[in-house]
Amino acid sequence: MSADFLTDELAAGFARVTSLAAIAAAKVAGRGDEKLADQAAVDAMRTALNAMQMQGRIVIGEGERDEAPMLYIGEEVGAGNGIALDIALDPLEGTTLTAKAMANALAVIAVAPRGGLLHAPDTYMDKLAVGPGYPENIVDLDAPAGDNALALAKAKGVAPSEIGVCVLDRPRHQAIIDSLRAVGARVHLISDGDVAGVIYTTDPETGIDMYVGQGGAPEGVLAAAALKCVGGQFQGRLVFRNDDERARAERTGITDFKRRYSLHELVATHAIFAASGVTNGALLRGVKTMNGHVRTHALVMNSATGSVLEIAAKYPR
Ligand code: FBP
Repeated sequence: MSADFLTDELAAGFARVTSLAAIAAAKVAGRGDEKLADQAAVDAMRTALNAMQMQGRIVIGEGERDEAPMLYIGEEVGAGNGIALDIALDPLEGTTLTAKAMANALAVIAVAPRGGLLHAPDTYMDKLAVGPGYPENIVDLDAPAGDNALALAKAKGVAPSEIGVCVLDRPRHQAIIDSLRAVGARVHLISDGDVAGVIYTTDPETGIDMYVGQGGAPEGVLAAAALKCVGGQFQGRLVFRNDDERARAERTGITDFKRRYSLHELVATHAIFAASGVTNGALLRGVKTMNGHVRTHALVMNSATGSVLEIAAKYPR
């Protein structure tokens, strides 16, 4: 499918969307109120999306229509004219981080032509990601995490102790952490925010070579969109804890519950990815209020043009 309409100008428009959401969330950071922070980001993101000349359709959003009044799955956004786009979003990736004014909260969006993004239900996903430059399938979602770390060490020609692996700090990941430490790999635990966790693998500065573990399926598609733009590999499999989650998946058209998705099955076409820092983080600086203006920092990438831009912008206070 041609994606000529995925221009860098359009991508910059989505960086504005994430930045306005980040500003709104940052205003209530540290208040200990996750709902307040999320609602602020949702309101601002929705207003900004509706100002864009496009026929946008939310395919990954705040939830199903009966549980989310705004940015629900299926909601039409945009001014209603212009190009037709599918949109996956997480107005606040790191609600707890924001409520506690901790590092690494982001506002995130991914955009593709219609049909380009997997309509991932709001379930968990087992995820495995590595950055660019490795042979295809060097790692395997179904192999022990330690074996994958050893495969990367061999490919890089370094000791396993030089392989950094990012994992969400959760009791459910203990076996993964043990497996990695048993081979001598360095485990970087994060308290939240696995979209950034995956993106770290693409930046040698982070010292993170691999991301592994179970997190939100929507965040999996968002992270895959980022890798689509900068390269890297991603494998994911939906995880269902009950019949309600299976029913959610069926409603999005998923029938094979055990399917293992590659990056290009999660994001089948070209895509734009944009994220803005809410609080300061390893990936992006957070919103900062200065004299007379608010500074934002966004990362925006476009697989159709190959561009990767960091945008520091100033908005009026
Ligand atoms: P939210 O801020 O949207 O709640 O997500 C934060 C997050 O850490 C994601 O990055 C991750 O995919 C998911 O939560 C992990 O879920 P859980 O906290 O249930 O382990």
